[in-house]
Amino acid sequence: MKESQPSAIYLKDYKVPPFLIDKTELTFELDEATTVVTSKLHMRRNPDSKENTAPLVLDGGEEVKLVAVAMDDYVLPSGEYQLVDNQLIITATADRFVLTCETLIEPQNNTRLEGLYRSSSMFCTQCEAEGFRHITYYLDRPDVMSVFTTRIIADAEKYPVMLSNGNEIARETLDDGKTSVVWHDPFPKPAYLFALVAGNLEVKNDTFVTQSQREVKLQIFTEAHNIDKVDYAMEALKRSMRWDEEVYGREYDLDIFMIVAVDDFNMGAMENKGLNIFNSSCLLASPETTTDDTYLRVEAIVAHEYFHNWSGNRVTCRDWFQLSLKEGFTVFRDQSFSADMHSDTVKRVEDVSFLKTAQFAEDAGPMAHPVRPASFIEISNFYTLTVYEKGAEIVRMIHTLLGAEKFRKGSDLYFERHDGQAVTCDDFVAAMQEASGVDLTQFKRWYSQAGTPQIRVVDEYDEQGQTYRLTLQQETPATPGQPTKLPLHIPVRVGLIDQSGNALSASFNGDSSDEHLLELTEAEQVFEFTQVATKPVPSLLRGFSAPVKLSYDYSSADLLLLLSADQDGFNRWNAGQQLAVNELNTLIEQAIAGEALSLTSNLVEGFKALLQNDNLDPAMVALILNLPSQAYLSELAQVIHPNAIKQARQYLKKQIAESLQTEFAQAYQQHQVTGPYQAEAKDIASRSLKNLALSYWLESGAETAKQSVVDQFESADNMTDQFAALSIAVHNGHDKADNLLDAFYQQWQNEPLVVNKWLMLSASREQEKAVDSMKTLMKHDAFDLKNPNKVRSLLGGFGQNISAFHHVDGSGYQFLADQILVLDKRNPQIASRLCTPLTRWKKMAPELRVKMKAELERIMADDLSKDVYEVISKSLA
Ligand code: PHE
Ligand code: ZN
Repeated sequence: MKESQPSAIYLKDYKVPPFLIDKTELTFELDEATTVVTSKLHMRRNPDSKENTAPLVLDGGEEVKLVAVAMDDYVLPSGEYQLVDNQLIITATADRFVLTCETLIEPQNNTRLEGLYRSSSMFCTQCEAEGFRHITYYLDRPDVMSVFTTRIIADAEKYPVMLSNGNEIARETLDDGKTSVVWHDPFPKPAYLFALVAGNLEVKNDTFVTQSQREVKLQIFTEAHNIDKVDYAMEALKRSMRWDEEVYGREYDLDIFMIVAVDDFNMGAMENKGLNIFNSSCLLASPETTTDDTYLRVEAIVAHEYFHNWSGNRVTCRDWFQLSLKEGFTVFRDQSFSADMHSDTVKRVEDVSFLKTAQFAEDAGPMAHPVRPASFIEISNFYTLTVYEKGAEIVRMIHTLLGAEKFRKGSDLYFERHDGQAVTCDDFVAAMQEASGVDLTQFKRWYSQAGTPQIRVVDEYDEQGQTYRLTLQQETPATPGQPTKLPLHIPVRVGLIDQSGNALSASFNGDSSDEHLLELTEAEQVFEFTQVATKPVPSLLRGFSAPVKLSYDYSSADLLLLLSADQDGFNRWNAGQQLAVNELNTLIEQAIAGEALSLTSNLVEGFKALLQNDNLDPAMVALILNLPSQAYLSELAQVIHPNAIKQARQYLKKQIAESLQTEFAQAYQQHQVTGPYQAEAKDIASRSLKNLALSYWLESGAETAKQSVVDQFESADNMTDQFAALSIAVHNGHDKADNLLDAFYQQWQNEPLVVNKWLMLSASREQEKAVDSMKTLMKHDAFDLKNPNKVRSLLGGFGQNISAFHHVDGSGYQFLADQILVLDKRNPQIASRLCTPLTRWKKMAPELRVKMKAELERIMADDLSKDVYEVISKSLA
């Protein structure tokens, strides 16, 4: 262990920066050995700061070598500055001066992938959140916004493409075979939005005409072998630009918008001003190599990064505690966009399902934190589902409480008022409140209170008086550092239906309708509906109107009614999920008790009706028939028994498969898609149901199904169908699974993104000695520890391999811990993210708990990065 442990920084300690940087002039002399960075910072004391004699403190990284520092051309002798704890401190400064720094870095040795680094043959940058300090000394905080001019000098042959933010303003051929290019970005921005790319890249060009008739040049850059896979992203970009004009009135501001794909990237993509940098896995798409899911993800991420141009770049965050200001809002915007492009119900179900599985688990674990955290040790650890997904739910609730029109007024006010500023979540809510007149004072608790609220609902019907009463109680469980909680302002959309499934009108607050918005603000509150003709079945929390766990004592008959008849598509899915969860929980208890498993409900009947109903969206049917995941069932459990969960799911799947063999065989035939591949909602829906049906059909043991799996694998003209067939074969223990896995690798070994899918599937395969086979896979040509996508595929896949990861001998935990320790020395961000499955140790069955904890303690005893230290120490606390 280190002698001094990293310490936390607190939101309450925020102070405005004592200095500002009006202009930043950078020169990069790129070289494979040593890159020279020269910065000229036009600085002045901040008139808003009270610390008017404070020294100048600039952030740097360990690997940044300072060659010279000068103030207004006066080269500082070493006695006039200090280098302490990666900071450059200068005590004597004028009120206004130009600081020149010359620093040396070695991008080729940068394995953290923060700052300037090499990916394949190119140079690229990643500066969010605190990457810029790994390039040169700077005031690396988002409330210091500066106008950047960047000169790039590099070998003209190796790096014909040289890009940075803004517009290219000068280009010069130098004597020594080098080129110098100058970029200027007129919009002031924090250093985290700085970007630079240099490489031998191909480009796809396009244009977009904005609503005010300005022509914007669009460019997507990739290495030569990938340029044929960017058409879909380009179309998605144009759709996003149009949508933001139509829905938010936001027009693009520069004359050029560029996207670059890189293979080595810690995250999905980055919204650098005018120059987005993407993980190639989130940008490239072709029917042969890309599944439907990935198509939709590419579209959503292209949109997300583009939308940041306003929600993030024009208006940015004051400090990193406000991260959700840009991320929660932008996720809400990309979710709405995708809903508009495809099916809004399907999109909502997918997003909520993810939230309930992964964000709820985070909110109940040792890393639980509010959407606006109060402290952190390493900000990279806070790019979380809570900040992103729960943050998006908060914005969605504001949208629900205000209505679309007032919400738009609020967003207009927010963008107008804060254009060019670095602001807070409070500023966002204030704009929404002022523009709408809706009081959001209590609502703001959502930003500061961690944990998932639980709502208990009971009802009462008075036939005589034709009144119906719902009593709602809310409670939020304690989370680390927050033992007590206050009631939240929660929008609960409620519909009533009668016993035959028809919408039932009722009067509430003088409003007669079959759907109402209840605003729960107290710990307990009664809502009374009048003129209710018969005893209703309540359809609660329609559209998942708040990120809460809601419970109401539904009978199976109620759930079947909601499943077949609820007017709200989301709640139909939810009722199906609830039925399956109830059945599975009973089976899990049987399995834990060592009893024989047997079904207790009429779930199968409900599923049969769905399969036979031709009026339903096949995508929705597939979503409902897809049994709740192992991860979701674990989140729901008090104590996790992974093998009991696995057994229960397998048993239920088999029972359903056997009972509905004919229906599944039929559905498989009926939902075949003809014509060329299209990533459109209708075809995606058919493929999803067809492939789900194939999986059940094979599970039923039908011989013809076995052949169909092989046929589909061999004849598919798109990756969705081919990979579905392969996954089904692997997970259902098809006797040809090995052959298919090999054939797949042979076919796709030169397509890294497809190989990653193969790695993930291979790692998630249930087998004897799975840890040994992991060790073999790590030595396979297909694997590379330096590439985050490959690490995520292989180790992420292993996390889904229940019997291997949760083996009672602890070998799975040990294996993962070993990898974390190795990776932490190379890339702390990636290492830290891999810790997540181990952090849930307190919920595991006793025999697993001790083994998991022992691995956490073993990691803790090592010399750790801040990233891994924070996660592990909080998990053990
Ligand atoms: N800001 C990026 C996004 O959400 C995510 C990101 C964070 C990328 C940190 C890289 C590093 O769009
Ligand atoms: Zn984002």
